[in-house]
Amino acid sequence: MSLAEEIRVSHKITLPQLTQLLETDDKVVIEDLRQHAQAQAQTIYGHDIYLRGLIEISNICRNNCYYCGIRKDNRNLTRYRLYKQQILDCCRKGHTLGFRTFVLQGGEDAYYTDDRLCDIVNCIKRDFPDCAITLSMGERSHESYQQLRKAGADRYLLRHETANEQHYGLLHPSTMSLSHRKQCLFDLKSLGYQVGAGFMVGSPFQTITNLYEDLLFLQDLQPAMIGIGPFLSHHDTPFKSQPNGSSERCLRLIAILRLLFPYALLPATTALGTADPLGREKGILYGGNVLMPNLSPTSVRKQYMLYDNKICTGDEAAECRVCLSKRMEMIGYHTVVSRGDAKTPDEIA
Ligand code: 5AD
Ligand code: FES
Repeated sequence: MSLAEEIRVSHKITLPQLTQLLETDDKVVIEDLRQHAQAQAQTIYGHDIYLRGLIEISNICRNNCYYCGIRKDNRNLTRYRLYKQQILDCCRKGHTLGFRTFVLQGGEDAYYTDDRLCDIVNCIKRDFPDCAITLSMGERSHESYQQLRKAGADRYLLRHETANEQHYGLLHPSTMSLSHRKQCLFDLKSLGYQVGAGFMVGSPFQTITNLYEDLLFLQDLQPAMIGIGPFLSHHDTPFKSQPNGSSERCLRLIAILRLLFPYALLPATTALGTADPLGREKGILYGGNVLMPNLSPTSVRKQYMLYDNKICTGDEAAECRVCLSKRMEMIGYHTVVSRGDAKTPDEIA
């Protein structure tokens, strides 16, 4: 059995196996990994690609993560937030374009109190009852997550960023903690959210052992979604001189995630598409099954720069929608009009 096959049947990986898969330059080994991951994805999700319309609702953030372009201490950007009506307008446009999941993502902006955010979630559910709502609004209290869930939120994305305490401390100021991050993720899970975790590939100081710890943490959490993308430096952050993460390593990790978590929703992220012009296509060919095109108003897109050179900041939502469908058809996949919930073993023949 090849290494990839072993991982595929056991859903387990050892540190030496991970090291070998990430460090090898044997094209045969890499292609075998890719093929097994792609086959696994196709067994469960066929050639369907699920879409999520990403609405970047605010670039105002109380945190100061060292890697992030919208960190509080960055004064070189215009801060904005979208209000209820603007968000609903984005959803309207997105619904017409065939999106059935809306992801509301933003910094930790105090404007979005539970009352305000619940009202927004309520209104989206009222106007678009056939759609799933995903929130990606950072760390909040159990009580807050509970209210938002009651208001109709279905899913929550909160990348853990790194599962190693010490590494977490090198990426974040001491006001943030990995234990609180993990607590949020387990709270979200217990409240019945479909939870998304994830990490950056090649974030400063990351070791292969750190990545192994990420995989172990994910095996413990068992999230429905796992978002990963290469770290890309932003010129107005403390990490401005740090090297970018490798898109190649990111692809191998997507493949490994697919073998470890056959049913997971795995996006080919915008960061991957930024690091490599064909990154999103490759992400799918390495076992990904989700794309998250931007639905934010064009007027604010350039203000939601988490990293330098982010793609699609000049394009209309409709352009991205058409562009991505074409890109997927080119590689034999189809974007589908569906909420795109994760499949379960009993749904697979
Ligand atoms: N490069 C790549 N990804 C980044 N993110 C934030 N800053 C960067 C960066 N410089 C990712 C984080 C966050 C998600 C919304 O974007 O992982 O959770
Ligand atoms: Fe935005 Fe291609 S996805 S232009």
